[in-house]
Amino acid sequence: MSMTTAYFFPVLRYNCDMYKTLTAQLESLSEGVTYPVTILSNAAAILFNSLKDINWAGFYILGDSGDDAGTLLLGPFQGKPACMKIPVGKGVCGTSAARDETVLVRNVHEFPGHIACDSASNSEIVVPIHSNGTFYGVLDIDSPSVGRFTEDDKRGLEKFVAVLEKYI
Ligand code: SME
Repeated sequence: MSMTTAYFFPVLRYNCDMYKTLTAQLESLSEGVTYPVTILSNAAAILFNSLKDINWAGFYILGDSGDDAGTLLLGPFQGKPACMKIPVGKGVCGTSAARDETVLVRNVHEFPGHIACDSASNSEIVVPIHSNGTFYGVLDIDSPSVGRFTEDDKRGLEKFVAVLEKYI
């Protein structure tokens, strides 16, 4: 085994196991709960208290009526107060919503149109969420470290969101 493989393999396993644990925790807490705000609140708390080196974890939910139609609205979160409305197509969250795909940003200062809610944030990952096959909103996580999120985080968080989607 090369030095590189020997070094990286335990890290990869650690991440996979960690996301499995967080997803199992979400599943057991959500059993029998039907109100989305309740489930999203605990999901934000699980992520914020378990992931290392992050400063914000929460949700933006697509508004569906009046002036809010087509706008992402701040949902349950942990961290500092944040922007309350983000138009689809704007910022990292709005870009993820418009593309309907996960957006992983190594350095937010290099992302055109990034919306800075907390000046401490330097990297970010946003994962789209669906409810009954329709776009529902996004999971957004920020870190003070450049390059904090990896492809392992993307895979782990997409699995976490897949469980979330069964309950909202
Ligand atoms: N940075 C995000 C805005 C939301 S906060 O990070 C909580 C964006 O560019 O969409």
